[in-house]
Amino acid sequence: MLQNNLRVMLDARKTGSAVAAINILNYNTARATLRAAQAAGRDVILQPSTGTVKRYGVSETYSMVEGLRRAFPVRASLHLDHCRDSALARACIDAGWDSVMMDFSALPMEENIGKTREIVLYAHERGVAVEGEVGVISGVEEDISAENAHPANYEDTVRFIRESGVDAIAPSIGTAHGFYKNAPVLNYGLTERLGKLETPLVVHGGTGLSPEAFHKLIRLGAAKVNISTALKQTYLGTARGELQNP
Ligand code: 13P
Repeated sequence: MLQNNLRVMLDARKTGSAVAAINILNYNTARATLRAAQAAGRDVILQPSTGTVKRYGVSETYSMVEGLRRAFPVRASLHLDHCRDSALARACIDAGWDSVMMDFSALPMEENIGKTREIVLYAHERGVAVEGEVGVISGVEEDISAENAHPANYEDTVRFIRESGVDAIAPSIGTAHGFYKNAPVLNYGLTERLGKLETPLVVHGGTGLSPEAFHKLIRLGAAKVNISTALKQTYLGTARGELQNP
């Protein structure tokens, strides 16, 4: 049986679209994301960061999302974003999460493959999908920050997929976490080659990408697009406004 998370990515790709993966940070943002997915008639992936999950707890986060997703008639899967802590990933897998992303991309290739593969084996025995990262995506995503960002290449990415056994791949194609100071230079050539592989392609750093960049990346095969900073900024701005003008 295909895991929910993988299914939504493959289904999105079949229709020439991608699934939005949103970094929820609490009940309100999870609910808002599900409402938006319902309004748009789209599947969605809810993907708290490891920092958020450590703050609330693995089973507490699961229960919150589980309660909410029963109330919305959309396919919504629960995914752990950028995890470098194998014990935390195992705990999420045991608690019934749909998928986890292991981010050992800052380590040498052999170690990235080996550590990711360990979790792939554990996850697959329990029907859970795993995303991995090749090259290093720059920027800061809560407690994960990449000082030594470097681009992915085709050969390494194909080798990583084959040897680690991941279900989805996030190669560093020129996007970055957080706000862009200048328009990013995206490697569309690599995206096009990797987009033809069976393994769904994930684009990180969705905040601030132009609609043209989104459309082009999705046309070339991106199946999942991550968005975090934009939601946090909207949430904080709205909350501040509500508190100042109750
Ligand atoms: P942004 O914060 O740039 O939207 O990136 C989100 C992301 O890629 C989470 O993994």
